[in-house]
Amino acid sequence: MQPALIPLGVLLALAAWPALAGELPPDAAVNPAAPNKTLEPRVVVNSGRLEWAPFKRDLTAWPTLSHEDKRPTKKPRKVKLPAALKGDPQRGRDIALDPSKGYCVVCHQIPGEDWPGTVGSPLLHYAQYKYPDAAIYQQIFDARVLNPNTVMPPYGTNGILTEQEIRDLVAYLQSIE
Ligand code: HEC
Repeated sequence: MQPALIPLGVLLALAAWPALAGELPPDAAVNPAAPNKTLEPRVVVNSGRLEWAPFKRDLTAWPTLSHEDKRPTKKPRKVKLPAALKGDPQRGRDIALDPSKGYCVVCHQIPGEDWPGTVGSPLLHYAQYKYPDAAIYQQIFDARVLNPNTVMPPYGTNGILTEQEIRDLVAYLQSIE
């Protein structure tokens, strides 16, 4: 047994850490050359290194919550729901499940979906609360008006969803018995 070797190994690993960290871009989440695209880590096989490749998707509408990310964000926006809801519940459900649209299921439980996220409150039996359409519309359009520290994306303000798509989502939630 050579007990001294183990602490030495730990020391070496610690000494190597700043060198490894130095290879990352100053802000690993954002590519300064393409501010709307984040970077994707890729393992360089058998090298112990990561490479950073730009994501293909334009993430303008999805600013990160990183303290390093200093890009300006749009201010929270209070909205009124003008006139009748005119939403289509079936389309709303599709939007809630579509990864390129609402993808609400990544944070919320939705009936009939087996692998939901649990960051947000379950949206099961949602009709029972009898919330006004306008309140749900505001929550989806820009949840920051109701909770400035929310992690829920401001779908309307950031142009992720259209007004009609948000109406469809409200109609869907109101239809969940
Ligand atoms: C990144 C996670 C996340 C995503 C994605 C998300 N939400 Fe949320 N949502 C939350 C959290 C967290 C709350 C709790 C309140 C808050 O913090 O704003 C919430 C609250 C809500 C509420 C109010 C819940 C209540 O208790 O009455 C509704 C309605 C809602 N979300 C609908 C949606 C819809 C519809 C979508 C998709 C278009 C969606 N959310 C996408 C995280 C998310």
